[in-house]
Amino acid sequence: MPEQDASIADQTVDQLGGRTSILARQRADHARLNRLMARARETEAEGGIAHAVALRAVARLVFTHAFAEEAVLFPAARRALPDGDPLTLRIESDHQEVDELVTRLDSSSPDDPRHPELLRRTFAVLDEDVRTEEDELLPRLQQVLGRRQLRLLGWRWELLRRASPTRPHPVVSRRPPGQTLSALPLTVLDRSRDRLQQLDELTRGRLGSPLSVADRLLAGAAGAVERLPVVRRGERPETSR
Ligand SMILES: [Fe+2]
Ligand SMILES: [Fe+2]
Repeated sequence: MPEQDASIADQTVDQLGGRTSILARQRADHARLNRLMARARETEAEGGIAHAVALRAVARLVFTHAFAEEAVLFPAARRALPDGDPLTLRIESDHQEVDELVTRLDSSSPDDPRHPELLRRTFAVLDEDVRTEEDELLPRLQQVLGRRQLRLLGWRWELLRRASPTRPHPVVSRRPPGQTLSALPLTVLDRSRDRLQQLDELTRGRLGSPLSVADRLLAGAAGAVERLPVVRRGERPETSR
């Protein structure tokens, strides 16, 4: 066992409980996020498709990663740690800010003068989120959970991450039950919109008009899901919009 509350950034995979533990999986995904953010920064000046693709890759990783944390990791931390509630609330507030910033980024074009500042702030909050998790939350969990529990949590987080919404939904509760109830409809709608976007790119915009009508319908359906009172259940005032 590493010394009390040592950051998971500097430990070996074995100390983290093996490749499948929640600690190793989180660290690997955070490293991937760093690479994707670097790519987005590199493409910012040239803009165009390359920058849009880079930003989409960041968004897809961030929203699936955070959604699965809120559904399985943070509830587990609240059960295991005496101060799990304020600690997870602080991270959920960062997630909420990222949701709101990316929603604003999505509605602005890369030539928008606010784009660089929105991007800079989004990446700063993401860096902060990673540091709080790797230096505070995850080391604390490591002290109270055994290797088997860390792996079980790792598998649950991984499975959920593969079936999570891929876009920002700042209105939905960051905590169960609202968060969990929103998962199925928003995952289906977000991933259908992702398919349309891929089809649009594959056909180089030749199906432009029918695809954008379909996309607007799916976006409208996601908006209707967000307006259901049930998906706000469990929300804390600190993260509500
Ligand atoms: Fe994380
Ligand atoms: Fe996070």
